Formats: sequence, C-alpha cells, structure tokens
Amino acid sequence: MASAGSGSGSRSEKVRVWDLPTRLFHWLLVGLFAFMWYSGGASDELMHWHMRAGYTLLALLIFRVLWGLWGSRHSRFVSFVAPPRRVWGYARAVLARRVTPASGHNPLGGWMVLVLLASLLTQTVTGLFSSDDISIDGPLNNTVSSSTAGWLTSVHHLNFDLLLILAGVHIAAVLAHRVLGEPLTLAMITGRKRAAAGDTDEPFAPLWRALLLALAAGAAVWLLVS
Ligand code: HEM
Ligand code: HEM
Repeated sequence: MASAGSGSGSRSEKVRVWDLPTRLFHWLLVGLFAFMWYSGGASDELMHWHMRAGYTLLALLIFRVLWGLWGSRHSRFVSFVAPPRRVWGYARAVLARRVTPASGHNPLGGWMVLVLLASLLTQTVTGLFSSDDISIDGPLNNTVSSSTAGWLTSVHHLNFDLLLILAGVHIAAVLAHRVLGEPLTLAMITGRKRAAAGDTDEPFAPLWRALLLALAAGAAVWLLVS
C-alpha cells in the first residue's frame, strides 16, 4: 500500500505494483530455470527430474499467460506491451540517461518480458518432444516422426543458448536500472515500487482467480503429458 491515507502516488511514495502471483511466478521461474540448466543433459536420474520440473515450469508459464490476460493491471499484457513509437522514445531516453521510472514494466522491458516468455515456452514445448536417442525421451517424442523429433531436439539445444543470452541481458538491464537509481529487484520481492507520475495504489486481482487459473494451467499440462 502507499503511505496511509493516500490514493495517488507521488515520487517519494511506494505503490503496489507486482501482486503475489506475479512475484511467486518470477522467483519460482528463476529457481526452476537454474535447475533446468543444471539437470539438462545430466544423468538419467537427474533427467527424470529435468522432465518433472519441466512440467511444473510449463504450467507456470501457461499460468503467466493467463495472468497476462486476467491478472492485476500491471501484470496484464495490455498494460506493458507498448507500441513501437513509445519503445523507440524510451530507448532514446535510456541512451541519453534520462530514464524516468515506469509504473510497471517500462516500454522496452515489456517487450523483453514477451520475448523471454516466448523463448521459455518454446524451450518447454520442444522439451516434450526431445530425446537423447539413448534412454531419455520427452513424453510426446513418439507422437512425431523421428526426423521431426530430431529437429525439435536441436531447437531445444539452440533455444537454450538463446535463453542464456536473454537471461544475461535481462539481469544486466536490471543492474543498469539499479546504477541509474531505480531499484527494481526489491520491487519484485515486496511488490511495491516508487510511484511514477500519476501512479495510483490500486487493488490487485483476487487471489482465488490466480488459484483457479493455476489449477487450469496445471490440469492442461497434466492432460497433455499423461
Ligand atoms: C537473479 C536473477 C534475476 C533478477 C534479480 C531478476 C529481476 C527481475 C526484475 C526486477 C523484474 C521486474 C522488471 C521490471 O520492473 O520491469 C523481472 C521480471 C522478469 N524476469 Fe527476472 N530476474 C532474474 C532472473 C531471471 C531469469 C533467469 C529469468 C528467465 C529465464 C527471468 C525472467 C523474468 C520475466 C519473464 C519477468 C517478467 C515478470 C512478469 O511480469 O511476470 N528473470 N526480473
Ligand atoms: C525452460 C525449460 C527447459 C530448459 C532450460 C531445458 C534445458 C535443457 C538443456 C540445457 C539440455 C541439455 C542439452 C545438451 O545436452 O546440450 C536439455 C536436454 C533435454 N531436455 Fe530440457 N530443458 C527445459 C525443458 C524441458 C522439458 C519440459 C522437457 C520434457 C518434459 C525436457 C526434456 C529434455 C530432454 C529429453 C533432453 C535430452 C535431449 C538430448 O540429450 O539431446 N526439457 N534441456
């Protein structure tokens, strides 16, 4: 919440920006991504956990897409996917070191979030069809021809390298904002961020809705892989 009694933000106040589901999504994603990196291509035992954790990650990503449609304001795609002209204007402000704090994701960051989500979804979906050609097959590997499975396995490998680059750029951008005086990581932990101009301390979407969407995402993955 903002300071007691205030309905709209001023530069010194903090307002609610990231709801609990979005924060949980992010930090679970970071943990699972690290585990996927560690377990990918490791022993058979670890590869079984690679796949189980992969199902969880896929459900998490589906949840985030649903939350992007029906979640709290700052978590919705419509609120952070900016038109090219605003992205260009923001990029020029960054180059001139005139960055103004954004309410949620900034115009450039919003597109980065979309690219990260698309690449993570590509990684999890191709994983379902991948095979090491020895003992480990994704659950949908036998639903496609072996040449298609081989191609999807190559995408699983190549896209992982892309993901590492994207994650590196993402973390570097978060650090750069810190250097420029906008601490973003704390906001992703507490949910509260220094108010940008005109920011209001709005209520978040109800948690039962997040729970319902998470259940739907989990059920979709379960139906897909069982
Ligand atoms: C420890 C390292 C990391 C830190 C400190 C960090 C920090 C952050 C912060 C501060 C934001 C919000 C940015 C904003 O205010 O616009 C964010 C968003 C995001 N980060 Fe990270 N991040 C880390 C690692 C990762 C990794 C490894 C991934 C994926 C491979 C990732 C994916 C995302 C995504 C998808 C969002 C958008 C969240 C949403 O709206 O749901 N992050 N991160
Ligand atoms: C973001 C999620 C994921 C990441 C970051 C990831 C990462 C990786 C990495 C780094 C490898 C090793 C590649 C190599 O040996 O060069 C790998 C292999 C593999 N992954 Fe994933 N993976 C993810 C999701 C999944 C999912 C959801 C499944 C299936 C349920 C899966 C199934 C496999 C299989 C079967 C292999 C073995 C392919 C081979 O050895 O050629 N992965 N993954």
